Amino acid sequence: MYKIATIGGDGIGPEIVDVGKKVLEAAGEKFSFEIEWTDFDIGADRYLATGELLTEDDLTDLKEFKALYFGAIGDERVKPGILEKGILLALRFHFDQYVNLRPIRLLDGVETPLAGKGPAEIDFVVVRENTEDFYVGIGSRLQKHQKIDLTVGRDLYNVKFGLDVESDAEEIAYQIGVITREGSRRVQTYAFDLAKRRERILTSVDKANVLSDVYGLWREVFTETAKRYPDVKTEFNYVDAITMWFVKNPEWFDVVVTPNMFGDIITDLGAMIQGGLGLAPGGNINPGGTSMFEPIHGSAPKYRGMDVANPIATIWAGSLLLDHIGEDEAATAVVSAIEKSIRDGVVTKDMGGSAGTAKAGAYIAECVKKGK
Ligand code: IPM
Ligand code: MG
Repeated sequence: MYKIATIGGDGIGPEIVDVGKKVLEAAGEKFSFEIEWTDFDIGADRYLATGELLTEDDLTDLKEFKALYFGAIGDERVKPGILEKGILLALRFHFDQYVNLRPIRLLDGVETPLAGKGPAEIDFVVVRENTEDFYVGIGSRLQKHQKIDLTVGRDLYNVKFGLDVESDAEEIAYQIGVITREGSRRVQTYAFDLAKRRERILTSVDKANVLSDVYGLWREVFTETAKRYPDVKTEFNYVDAITMWFVKNPEWFDVVVTPNMFGDIITDLGAMIQGGLGLAPGGNINPGGTSMFEPIHGSAPKYRGMDVANPIATIWAGSLLLDHIGEDEAATAVVSAIEKSIRDGVVTKDMGGSAGTAKAGAYIAECVKKGK
């Protein structure tokens, strides 16, 4: 019996999580385990009604779970950034989910926009650092004649940036990226362990040629960590170059480890080469704590309640969840069932089919139960 928390969130989030839950329950039936779900009402509706994003109670309750199944957040009634930062990023940071695991794999029967490439060429995993870099939230905006005091204090780092900035500009804005030795080491170690199992190559992404302080440290730690893994073949790619190679030679990649912001960017590119955002899952992992599994797409508010959203990314995220809790056979069966639904053409409109969200999901659940 597993206890799993769900946060449907906004827009299409609740529908796709509902469908995902049914598929995981089907996997439970087939592989003899049970799931007890606890649904959390977190998202735009509650925020608009009460002003609450994440409460202390939410965090205390969620902490009891090893895995959270997350839909999507974002709503046209709320200014961009509030829900994203106040809920999604807050959860990732609060639970110290330092690995953002994003498989980029072209499933059988899915079309990629890359000419001449198929499932054999597009099969790698991006390990995105998930708690540092430009996502730490240190920044500000200042207007002319406003006193410029760039002293920034945060509990965690307690850094004082005693910068003297003289500027005639009408307004300035700044944002500071922070990379730590420990933060780089732990996520890179995770990537090395994965690369060791997959036995091909580990690529590290940075921009150490220009942003040489933050990504210089990242690269230095990578070089050190590599010494502990003599069997793992490694290489460096600058982030601009890797976007080029993802398109031209995706078959070169196996495991890719990247700082947070570059990871955000290159995984949207990755999602496109694996057939679109409707097919791209992600796991936010804290190996010793509370992890969270989600589709990497957003909440698509204009499709809310219309039964048109593609549930595959969420179902696949459910497979990552199963893998995380140790049900690896069930996890594999879920992905096989997704592939079967694609082969049989029981897919949503974005993939050229005519099934609604619920029907496409129910078909996958059926395939899991039947074991094909
Ligand atoms: C993602 C998203 C988020 C991110 C946003 C919504 C905060 O783009 O999961 O990739 O930037 O990490
Ligand atoms: Mg993103």
